[in-house]
Amino acid sequence: CGIVGYIGWREAAPVIVEGLKSLEYRGYDSFGVATGTDSIMVAKRKGRISEQAECVVGCHGTRGIGHTRWATHGLPDDRNAHPHTDCTGQFAIVHNGIIENYAELRRGLESRDHRFTSDTDSEVIVHLIEEAWEGDFAAAVRSVLPLLRGSYAILALCAGSDEVIAARERSPLVIGLGDSEFFACSDATPIVMYTRDILVLEDGDMAVIREGSVAVENGGEVVAREASYVDYDVEAARKGGFAHFMLKEIFEQSDVFQQSFRLAFSHLETSALLRHAHGISVIACGTSYNASLLFRYFVEKECGTPVRVDLASEYRYLSTPEDEVVIAVSQSGETADTLSALKKAAASGCPTIAITNVQGSSITRAADRTIYTGAGPEISVAATKSYMAQVAAFVGLLAGMTCSETSFVECSVGQAIEESLLTDVSEAVSLCVPASTIFYVGRGIFYPVALEGALKMKEISYIHAEGYAAGEIKHGPFALLSEMTPAVAVCLPGDGYHSMLGNLREMKARGTPLIGIGYGDDIDLQDVTDVCIPIPKGDEYAQVAAVTVIMQRIAYYTALALGRDIDKPRNLAKSVTVE
Ligand code: G6P
Repeated sequence: CGIVGYIGWREAAPVIVEGLKSLEYRGYDSFGVATGTDSIMVAKRKGRISEQAECVVGCHGTRGIGHTRWATHGLPDDRNAHPHTDCTGQFAIVHNGIIENYAELRRGLESRDHRFTSDTDSEVIVHLIEEAWEGDFAAAVRSVLPLLRGSYAILALCAGSDEVIAARERSPLVIGLGDSEFFACSDATPIVMYTRDILVLEDGDMAVIREGSVAVENGGEVVAREASYVDYDVEAARKGGFAHFMLKEIFEQSDVFQQSFRLAFSHLETSALLRHAHGISVIACGTSYNASLLFRYFVEKECGTPVRVDLASEYRYLSTPEDEVVIAVSQSGETADTLSALKKAAASGCPTIAITNVQGSSITRAADRTIYTGAGPEISVAATKSYMAQVAAFVGLLAGMTCSETSFVECSVGQAIEESLLTDVSEAVSLCVPASTIFYVGRGIFYPVALEGALKMKEISYIHAEGYAAGEIKHGPFALLSEMTPAVAVCLPGDGYHSMLGNLREMKARGTPLIGIGYGDDIDLQDVTDVCIPIPKGDEYAQVAAVTVIMQRIAYYTALALGRDIDKPRNLAKSVTVE
């Protein structure tokens, strides 16, 4: 979810609406705004704020709070949309996170005659504030926070009070310091058009924001939080003539690779730390996990250092040897599972490294050192250039670990990406559009690439797609193969080439339409596949980048042909800040 609060001299609702629009990548099931001075006005609805912002016209006043939701508790409908108000209508809150003990709190409140109007966990917060109120808004919120178990970023408003209150526990929240105005948001995206001076709240912080001041406290004690200056390219966050952000971001990947590669390569101390490590453990979710798997193949081949790659959400159930260097990879730097896993590793005494695209994000503060990827703002929910940036960061680190010559890498990969942006993928798309399931298969480094290809396809086209190690597909998926289950297969000369051709022949014999990705002069591959998409010849990194771009474009054009909402696929969010 995304939250925005404003207090200052402008009309709050339009500022909040614009802010929520730019936070829609955090969720877009429903939205709402509350403003007010003597009384509180609330407007909220199922659906996207970008499509029905007019519904907030009745909300006036120079302070307010707003929310765009990614449903966790309760259906995405009008009732469950935030802000939530108490029985008297005096208080309103928006919340991102999960209140784990909400059921118990709700039972208690209901037994004391509080009537609930939603199924959310969040609504308990506002009833608790109502119950605790004895004339001092900040005191009421302060006394409620210790009752909440779980994670939260909360903004609260009270009729008759001149304060907006913000509180954070394991859920991101920043305050923009403008000229006689303040913005409280899930991240800096909505703020940068007003101010670049940002104060990042820490876990346990509560901020009392008035028209002329912000006071931050933690555990009842006043604390000082340093403001930092945020670098953010506003222009890069616009669509620039492309039909979708995703297509624009796919096209930026050549520059992104080079930029991210250089940034990571410059971290020679970090490379040295990894070079001398007994073992490396990488933790991540989603697309970042797929990028991390590639790192494993690269490092084990080039350096022989064992690399463990775990899904961040599973890491808490696994051992954490303290002689491992732990790398947490997260485009947003806010994914709750990755952050928890990183904290677990740090608590066990492991040296920790964050790889992220977002300056000042939570994982940067939990890790010993940070490598920023240089992807720039990525707006489309499906990750493309941020994945390429992570791959580039890994290749850059590896170059540092092996003390390799680097100039050819940047050049060959950049060229491979540029060429692959222009390759015709239309025949492959025609095979994918009517499919019920699409398999993505590869061996070695192309196995993680296949996982990422399948993830892109399912995210934006809603066609079920599965990435498989090619050697594994006969152990189960064969039962599903038919004319309706095309396979996208990466088959390039080198290790496992002949085994791969064998796997393709087996699939072909079971009726699977085959889309091969390989070299244009490979007659054997052309013989066995229905469609063969050529990639330029090059080293392994160039091959990985080229295949990635081809797969991203097959997914994009398939989703386009099916009329999907490409930049905002249903039920997804770009940054998932709950565990
Ligand atoms: C969400 C996004 C994915 C992303 C994953 C991890 O599920 O929709 O695109 O890969 O979170 O995000 P992170 O920001 O940690 O890389």
